[in-house]
Amino acid sequence: MTAARRYYVTTPIYYVNDAPTIGHAYTTLACDALARFMRLDGYQVRFLTGTDEHGQKVAQAAAAAGMDPQALTDKVSQNFRDLRGVMNFSYDDFIRTTEPRHLKACQALWQKLVDAGDIYLGRFSGWYAVRDEAFYDESELVDGKAPTGATVEWLEEENYFFRLSAWQDRLLKFYEANPSFIAPRTRRNEVVSFVSGGLKDLSVSRTSFTWGIPVPGDPRHVMYVWIDALTNYIAALGYPDTANPDFKTFWPADLHMVGKDIIRFHCVYWPAFLMAAGVEPPRRVFAHGWWTNEGQKMSKSLGNFVVASDLVDRYGRDPVRYFLLRELTFGADGDFSHAAMVRRINTDLANDFGNLVQRVLTQVARNCDGKVPSPGPLSEQDKALLDAARGLLVRLRAEYREQAFHRALEAVWEVVGAANRYVDDQAPWALKKTDPARMATVLWVLAETIRYLAVLSQPVIPESAARILDQLAVPEGRRSFTALEPTHALVPGTPLPKPEGVFPRYVEEGVPGTEPKPKAKGRGTA
Ligand code: MSP
Repeated sequence: MTAARRYYVTTPIYYVNDAPTIGHAYTTLACDALARFMRLDGYQVRFLTGTDEHGQKVAQAAAAAGMDPQALTDKVSQNFRDLRGVMNFSYDDFIRTTEPRHLKACQALWQKLVDAGDIYLGRFSGWYAVRDEAFYDESELVDGKAPTGATVEWLEEENYFFRLSAWQDRLLKFYEANPSFIAPRTRRNEVVSFVSGGLKDLSVSRTSFTWGIPVPGDPRHVMYVWIDALTNYIAALGYPDTANPDFKTFWPADLHMVGKDIIRFHCVYWPAFLMAAGVEPPRRVFAHGWWTNEGQKMSKSLGNFVVASDLVDRYGRDPVRYFLLRELTFGADGDFSHAAMVRRINTDLANDFGNLVQRVLTQVARNCDGKVPSPGPLSEQDKALLDAARGLLVRLRAEYREQAFHRALEAVWEVVGAANRYVDDQAPWALKKTDPARMATVLWVLAETIRYLAVLSQPVIPESAARILDQLAVPEGRRSFTALEPTHALVPGTPLPKPEGVFPRYVEEGVPGTEPKPKAKGRGTA
């Protein structure tokens, strides 16, 4: 495996003060789709997620629950680990910042910064928002609150500082030399203008509470939770042992996926810490948008968090995965609504993809003796459909490289649409009596097209795709992207299992658009 064929993708590590919401699930899902895509494309992948367990916010949540912080973090971190089954995540490693490997990495990084002369002891006075675990300038406050709406408090304490002010030029040079480091473009502009405006030294330790990683040589201080948290990305690769195979193979990370709320930490502080410590910065940070619920910001006070496991209980795993990645332009904000979810399930999945698979497989079962049909000479229309399917991989690679999941799915669904139109045009059910050999060709072209669609939709809807591939009798070892070569096409005569529906409609009494499916007209529909 060459160095270029490896891929390291990370999620933010989540604060353990709540149940995982659709927002947390969204970030990890995006990484999951990417990780699955890259694995199917032959890359050696490392996909990391975890929980951020230190800091004042977690300490306060523990105090409010009357619990010891470690007991609280053990409990809540488990909810995030349970999300793996709920959402079908495929991460390779889950890091908790209370683990010894993490403590070791943080203290080593700190020492490097001290040795480099980038950390000094001083006195801090300024505004701090515990909810954001962030410092704010007086000029940033809006009506006495943080720009995020979080309550701020005035802090005055002895702190260690990181000499961030000295990194302004080097950061700007770094952004210039690495144009794809921050995405989307609007976020890049935001970061560049923030850094161009001048940087102040950053307080990186606290003395007013103890729930954190002790500063080496001065245990009255615990590290600022962000220097602690960011280090997870290298701690999981065995830092400070930079000679170990994991670190050598996977660092620098190919992608840190984050929400737009935490871009400053990842695009300003993190590369500065790393460069100061002599470690290469990550290759790219993508900041995605924010979900609201039925038009409202999700918040504790409104009690309107969409809990990921509730969604999956109601709609199913693959439909939720599909919806989240298809509904929004990845990078933009968007709104979760029941109506939008139902529309995606009943239109895109049930009517479009589901019906295609079902009508083709049912006809193969009925009219081709339940075996992969044998194609004759291909017509122009046959070739056009197959070419569209065969051209998808190249398009999808480009879209996944840009984290444009919505466009990747649109591309797949364009071919779903083309295949449905082809079924209608060719009317294989009518060919049964008039030209059975042509019927066999048409059904083979369709089954082969469905094979492409299923293989390529595995990153987003892995279980449904697997069920389709099972129904096409595609062996487990023939489901990666190398199997998309025409030489691995469906083999005529292969017996197929009895077809069964893969994408059920969402049916809810009294809700428009969720009526049970109308009785099929014509013989082409299942
Ligand atoms: N612990 C820090 C991250 C440290 S990373 C070194 C943190 N944690 S968090 O629990 O608040 O999670 C933040 C991330 O969750 C966001 O950046 C975003 O990825 C995701 N989301 C949480 N709510 C969200 C929405 N409503 N919409 C979209 N994503 C959001 O910040």
